[in-house]
Amino acid sequence: MWPGLIQKAKDGGLDVIETYVFWDIHEPVRGQAQVVVTWQYDFEGRKDLAAFVKAVADAGLYVHLRIGPYVCAEWNYGGFPLWLHFIPGIKFRTDNEAFKAEMQRFTTKVVDTMKGAGLYASQGGPIILSQIENEYGNIDSHYGAAGKAYMTWAAGMAVSLDTGVPWVMCQQDDAPDPIINTCNGFYCDQFTPNSATKPRLWTENWSGWFLSFGGAVPYRPVEDLAFAVARFYQRGGTFQNYYMYHGGTNFGRSTGGPFIATSYDYDAPIDEYGLVKQPKWGHLRDVHKAIKLCEPALIATDPSYSSLGQNTEAAVYKSGSACAAFLANIDGKSDKTVTFNGKTYNLPAWSVSILPDCKNVVLNTAQINSQVINSEMRYLQSSTETSDDSFVTPQLAVSGWSYAIEPVGITKDNSLTKPGLMEQINTTADASDFLWYSTSVTVKGDEPYLNGSQTNLLVNSLGHVLQVYINGKFAGSDQGSASSSLISFQEPVTFVPGKNKIDLLSATVGLSNYGAFFDLVGAGITGPVKLSGPSGALDLSSADWTYQVGLRGEDLHLYDPSEASPEWVSANAYPINQPLIWYKTKFTAPAGDDPVAIDFTGMGKGEAWVNGQSIGRYWPTNLAPQSGCVNSCNYRGAYSSSKCLKKCGQPSQTLCEGSNSYLLLNRYHMPRSFLQAGSNDLVLFEQFGGDPGKISFVIKQTGSVCAHVSEAHPAQIDSWFSPQQKMQRSGPALRLECPKAGQVISSIKFASFGTPSGACGSYSHGECSSSQALSVVQEACIGVSSCSVPVSSKNLGEPCSEVIKSLAVEAACS
Ligand code: GAL
Repeated sequence: MWPGLIQKAKDGGLDVIETYVFWDIHEPVRGQAQVVVTWQYDFEGRKDLAAFVKAVADAGLYVHLRIGPYVCAEWNYGGFPLWLHFIPGIKFRTDNEAFKAEMQRFTTKVVDTMKGAGLYASQGGPIILSQIENEYGNIDSHYGAAGKAYMTWAAGMAVSLDTGVPWVMCQQDDAPDPIINTCNGFYCDQFTPNSATKPRLWTENWSGWFLSFGGAVPYRPVEDLAFAVARFYQRGGTFQNYYMYHGGTNFGRSTGGPFIATSYDYDAPIDEYGLVKQPKWGHLRDVHKAIKLCEPALIATDPSYSSLGQNTEAAVYKSGSACAAFLANIDGKSDKTVTFNGKTYNLPAWSVSILPDCKNVVLNTAQINSQVINSEMRYLQSSTETSDDSFVTPQLAVSGWSYAIEPVGITKDNSLTKPGLMEQINTTADASDFLWYSTSVTVKGDEPYLNGSQTNLLVNSLGHVLQVYINGKFAGSDQGSASSSLISFQEPVTFVPGKNKIDLLSATVGLSNYGAFFDLVGAGITGPVKLSGPSGALDLSSADWTYQVGLRGEDLHLYDPSEASPEWVSANAYPINQPLIWYKTKFTAPAGDDPVAIDFTGMGKGEAWVNGQSIGRYWPTNLAPQSGCVNSCNYRGAYSSSKCLKKCGQPSQTLCEGSNSYLLLNRYHMPRSFLQAGSNDLVLFEQFGGDPGKISFVIKQTGSVCAHVSEAHPAQIDSWFSPQQKMQRSGPALRLECPKAGQVISSIKFASFGTPSGACGSYSHGECSSSQALSVVQEACIGVSSCSVPVSSKNLGEPCSEVIKSLAVEAACS
């Protein structure tokens, strides 16, 4: 997907692609000491970093390489490989020799790999910046003097690698020269670097926020994001990066945690599936063009500021004949009318107007000229046909389902018995999400913790998910959440006379990635584990426990269809709603090139593999809280990650907008690049219980294309030329463009000029509405792939002269 994504970024007006480097994927196992230590790096396939950097260069863009190697990123363990934790005496991210040696070795390896391929700008390549560490300044106080020493060492170590391009440290106010300290946040207009010789760089402008299993879906209105971008350049910014511009999917077990969801859509301008998200992508593209029209002035001088009244600010970049101005209204409530250079300007609340010639407004961040695209997820009737809007849920499997039962408790030879409860991550080294804790008690019937045949079982765990089995039978489960992973399970369980087996399955859902000492947070059943009844209790915390790391099916590679296994049962009927079970089927990839997802409705929690590649964990039964969401979020005023949430009460991965609410369920991206022509294999491990017969394919397709443009908006940004060529003074226009090559506008579903309201898919006429609008728009748009309609009474008729009117259009492409 890289070239296509990079091209969409370029078309959106980006110049630089910023990427993290994930140590854990490039060095999954530690080098082994033979005669000398042999390090085992992996830069192949999807992990071919040099190929990615070259792909960016091929598109004519630059690269900011954020090596870290601690990266946070909602990535498992912040990007550190787990083996790092087991190096004797190691302490992460502090003045510790073992840690520094490993960090230096990996950083050097990455730099050498890039140098070897000639990829630094100093060598003629695209890399213009690199980052060492990540937001260490947010947490360094916890490490005291050793923290400062480590930070200083990291800076010196990076510089000594002699890349020929600058290094940055984000959120590190005391970054030593020549390292440039940079800003991360929703706004960085108030940020100044720690020396006047350093440029203002914004390494993470959060375009939305990440999603957790069990959390509502965060989104950030583009008017606010555009405001933040324009404010930054108004205040002397020189470089800003969206985090994320495209977040994509965290495949496999790569999500951080706990409880980070598989989708890393982030409400980014390019969505999880690689499609542009409108109007976000389009409006930001317009903002980028507007800022670039100011370029001669921006690069010639620093701005001078003046107030235009309360909560307003003008910044003027003037040098010789070049003059650019930014007029801001930072009032979160009131629109303002201001006078600037003798002219009057209307500034909507919480907006910036951009004037590349200090006279004409080419863009206001709150006025969106870009079109909206309503994408819909559609079920597939069979492997080749789409079902359009029929309410049939087709079965995905074409070959029926085979299944394999994952046994309860200890079944592997390499189990281990020890007194006491062991922390999970130290025990599994994250080789698997799963750890079995197994013990037994022998009862006669008169034990003080028994009440008849019942006892109350208490299991305290650091998280993240617990399942309890008594004598091989499921006896309950519990789970933590993103805000607290702790579990305190307390349920009555029933014992039989004689020996009773207690099997506890503890599962992690992504290891911690943020905060001081995040590596030591821990997981699993650390106790107490206790039986209690009316007249006494039995503490099992220091009893003998037997441990099994991972599932038997994992050892047998059941997820890999190329390895035949006798475990699989093929029968007409397969067990449903039963925990701990593997399922397998074959399917044909949906025809066409629309992005594909699996709808896991009907399943509980698990992991899915397509042709042996994990597409990540799924968890449709983990619902977002009922409250905290807003239907339509007011972009005015300061944004925070909990300000704009949607999909309350729904499964976390209900990411898609669509007119049919029945379609809004449980989408998990299955990249086309993982699929092959002909037969494909799908394997699921279901932990809680579900019915795989209910899961289905969906494809993401464009529904309607809409736009809503007011007479008060500036002209389309593409109609403005550079200040030198004299600004063109055309009026506002509504522009529509079919998203896919070869499509034309086939019908106009709605058009209204006057005071229409509503959103794409549900526009309605206002009191004032011109009778000519529909025919004018039909005439201009039908049968062509893109059209532009002037938004004026002259073109569309005059339904009400005293009012500022707008044109709203919904069109279909085919
Ligand atoms: C930042 C961090 C990123 C990412 C982001 C939240 O603090 O540098 O890696 O975790 O927060 O998405």
